[in-house]
Amino acid sequence: MLKDRCLIEPSDVTVEELEALFSLARGIEEDEAAYRDMCRGKILATLFFEPSTRTRLSFEAAMFRLGGNVLGFAEPGSSSSAKGESLADTVRTVSCYADLIAMRNPKEGSALLASRYATVPVINAGDGGHHHPTQTLTDLLTIKRIFGGFDGLTVGFCGDLKFGRTVHSLAGALSRYNGVKIVFVSPQELRAPAYVTTGLLKNAGIAYQETENLEDVIGTLDVLYMTRVQKERFFNEEDYIRLKDSYILTEEKMALARDTMIVLHPLPRVNEIAVEVDRDPRALYFQQARYGMFIRMALICSLLGLF
Ligand code: CP
Repeated sequence: MLKDRCLIEPSDVTVEELEALFSLARGIEEDEAAYRDMCRGKILATLFFEPSTRTRLSFEAAMFRLGGNVLGFAEPGSSSSAKGESLADTVRTVSCYADLIAMRNPKEGSALLASRYATVPVINAGDGGHHHPTQTLTDLLTIKRIFGGFDGLTVGFCGDLKFGRTVHSLAGALSRYNGVKIVFVSPQELRAPAYVTTGLLKNAGIAYQETENLEDVIGTLDVLYMTRVQKERFFNEEDYIRLKDSYILTEEKMALARDTMIVLHPLPRVNEIAVEVDRDPRALYFQQARYGMFIRMALICSLLGLF
């Protein structure tokens, strides 16, 4: 389906191709044994120039569960980039050893650059504050499992909407569905960038609202997508400390939400969802992390031309 293609941002995959990935992920989840040898003899390289728990480990778990192998690095200090090797040379070299590359890098546009030099498919596992398309696949799969689709949903994004790449990717992906409404909840300084609001949403005719007050809007939402304030993207610590606890989702705030609303979070969580909310059946962020592995299994199979 996606043989030999790269995934740099969510729009690289059509809505129809997304549906096929969701079906494949479900098939894998329901009968994992049938896929156990699917990637035997294949190698995934995970090149992580930034920290990660879920994305790297779910990619690696996905490849191992498909019978394939994994090589790579979890921090750039252990690779020759620490000696000054360019990203272009690194991915050219890794293309000699692996059948596909999943890469996270702090620079916006790095995944696109890597895709121009690699000779195997490149998956963007997060490029700075830009995009994180496999998180979007994860988020969409979770929403689809609960609501059956996306048309007509009201989705609230809360927290650091400026630097939160998962927000940029998911808002753009949702703009392709009918009747979706987006509610952005953030402090003034952390508002979603114009390329998301006017560039993606307005151009697609998607209604969106911006507010600083979560309590005012939580009762209107089908999905509440919480995000952490991205400390690593701030230029000074003072601003981070002032803004980091702008929103904390508590049981009291959850009491204002619909019984059918779901809470998602790409994780890691710092302080923005109180731990007591975890026992609320509407809190789906750990289930979301699990779906992330199945959708990555589907993606790997698809990019390798096995489906
Ligand atoms: N959601 C996500 O990207 O988590 P990690 O940073 O742990 O990979």
